Amino acid sequence: MNRVFSGIQPTGNLHLGNYLGAIRNWVTMQDAYDCIYCVVDLHAITNRQDPKVLRQGIREMAAALLASGIDPDRAILFNQSAVHAHAELAWVLMCTARVGWLDRMTQFKDRAGKDREGQSVGFYAYPVLQAADILAYKATHVPVGDDQKQHLELARDIAAKFNTDFGVALFPLPEPVIRGPATRVMSLRDGTSKMSKSDPSDASRINLTDTADAIAQKIKRARTDAEPLPSEAAGLAGRPEAANLVGLMAALTDSTIADVLRDHGGHGFGQFKPALADVMVSALAPISRRFNDLRGDSAALDAILAKGAARASAIADPVLAEVHRTVGFAS
Ligand code: TYM
Repeated sequence: MNRVFSGIQPTGNLHLGNYLGAIRNWVTMQDAYDCIYCVVDLHAITNRQDPKVLRQGIREMAAALLASGIDPDRAILFNQSAVHAHAELAWVLMCTARVGWLDRMTQFKDRAGKDREGQSVGFYAYPVLQAADILAYKATHVPVGDDQKQHLELARDIAAKFNTDFGVALFPLPEPVIRGPATRVMSLRDGTSKMSKSDPSDASRINLTDTADAIAQKIKRARTDAEPLPSEAAGLAGRPEAANLVGLMAALTDSTIADVLRDHGGHGFGQFKPALADVMVSALAPISRRFNDLRGDSAALDAILAKGAARASAIADPVLAEVHRTVGFAS
């Protein structure tokens, strides 16, 4: 039995990194698997959120996922807090995970920086909740971008330790699915840092809601070096900005880096950037149009999320009951 689970935070807009790194794979996997996709609002509150903005952000992320091609009649789409099993299983798994394992999580170390003591306990324990998300459905495949690799390894370690501690085969070990030429989309302002919702510079990322003009401007101003594009992939070594733009072109045209360099090798960025902007605008325009149609209808979005939550609970509740029996709870 193959089952897909993945999640996305409802903070900020869907950006090109989310889309090419993860969401496009979520969409294609609907054809071959039972898919469960979650707007992770429990994860969002590990950092302080304005309640009004969060409420709207959950709906907008649902609208962005639908606009990207998630089909709520096939996949299950819901928000995490509406399904009790996530938080409840997270508690049990917090008693399985070890402090030493969480201490090794690079995302916490990078984000907390020098202020480790000032972070919420929830933010520290965040990857355990992520493991609970996946394991509550006994998911076997988890499509994500490259930055989630370590969290996925942790989820496997937690699943394996739970099974061993209790002498059961309750949880399958989930496989990360990190696929395509853009598993790690970098900032347009700095080829060594990841494109991210939390970057204060909007020029660093392409949002799925950006207009054609904004996209063209951001690509035009994207940082690059002065050399023309190489004709082979080896020539991208040490050129992170060039590698990023070539990777984006490959992902957006469903081709490979080698194909892009065959077509554009020897061209300068003055020629390559407008071609890239054109391809990007044509790929994103239909999504942005659908998003604008959907985002205003809160009632319809809430209904889709509620139906998804009921379907998700029907799968997760029996798994939680099995976990309760396994650890020895009386009911
Ligand atoms: P989040 O909300 O940061 O990102 C959602 C998805 O987008 C991918 N992604 C990227 N891919 C390529 N390049 C980038 N620059 C880029 N930025 C983001 C992420 O890898 C992710 O797949 N902890 C998760 C959400 C989560 C989850 C889960 C994922 C909660 N529970 C269970 C999988 C399974 C997160 O914060 O993703």
